[in-house]
Amino acid sequence: MAVNHNDFILNDGGLLPFVGLGTIGINGDQGTFEILNALNTGYRLIDTSTNYDNEGIVGEAVRRSALPREDILISTKLPGSYHEYDRAFIFIQESLRRMGLKYFDKYLIHWPNPKDGKYVEAWKALVDAQKQGLIRTIGVSNFEPEHLDNIIAETGVTPATNQVERHPYFNNNRMVEENKKRGVLTEAWSPFGRGYLNDVLQNATIKEIADQYDKTPAQIILNWNYQAGVLTIPKSSNPMHQKDNIDSTNFELASEDMKTIDSLDKGEAGRVEGQDPNEYHEYV
Ligand SMILES: NC(=O)c1ccc[n+]([C@@H]2O[C@H](COP(=O)([O-])OP(=O)(O)OC[C@H]3O[C@@H](n4cnc5c(N)ncnc54)[C@H](OP(=O)(O)O)[C@@H]3O)[C@@H](O)[C@H]2O)c1
Repeated sequence: MAVNHNDFILNDGGLLPFVGLGTIGINGDQGTFEILNALNTGYRLIDTSTNYDNEGIVGEAVRRSALPREDILISTKLPGSYHEYDRAFIFIQESLRRMGLKYFDKYLIHWPNPKDGKYVEAWKALVDAQKQGLIRTIGVSNFEPEHLDNIIAETGVTPATNQVERHPYFNNNRMVEENKKRGVLTEAWSPFGRGYLNDVLQNATIKEIADQYDKTPAQIILNWNYQAGVLTIPKSSNPMHQKDNIDSTNFELASEDMKTIDSLDKGEAGRVEGQDPNEYHEYV
């Protein structure tokens, strides 16, 4: 795959584009067309998960696309009920068969579920699945510093990415820094607060900045991430929004505007669904 100016280079030598397509709510046959439209618009990274009920249509879009398989990056996630080593290893194979793929470009542990204490086992399964060629890049999601340190200490393998909640009302700069210290790329989930879980896209300060640059609020938020070294995976079913989102790094935000957006943070109260990874456990 060619290196574009805005690719991120991973600690395993892999490359990821600055933006991928999030897929919560992209479902059914209509969803296949929405993913195909994104691929035709220039997206190369698709983020899915077993619990989004769309792994099948993501695989279908890969097969229907005119793009060669090696030009598309598919990323999915291990559910919390499959953290035991053997179950995780088999689940990865099952998920590949369900999607009709031979390998995953990226595979993440969806949530650490720390009270169950099995995420290290899950990580060992990902490490071995990578060795067997089932996965190219392995990473995690919603991991706190302690969880990162535990899997690294137990296996000597550092995840390439950590996908965490991040948007202007919960900027999670703490985890962006913790990831960076360990050489882990941060991926931001719900960069727009899912559109209805918060109103960042309508925020007056962001609108004002957007007007100054003649950009949309969405483009401002995505570039605020990119300039902070963070990959984003905005979900959009709308062709115009998909285009807006992928055209979001062809300008530079001044450092004072970056700081202004950082200042919109509301701390813990800003999380879209109160999902503190130390407390919240997800099983599907
Ligand atoms: N790892 C995890 O635990 C985790 C958790 C949550 C999410 N995720 C991932 O992160 C992805 C993104 O998060 P999300 O789905 O929660 O929501 P999001 O990306 O924050 O927001 C999606 C909403 O924003 C709207 N939108 C997108 N682009 C827009 C634009 N340019 N202008 C105006 N509105 C726009 C979309 O509507 P339209 O469709 O009409 O454009 C949709 O309503 C998910 O789909 C999923 O892949 C991961």
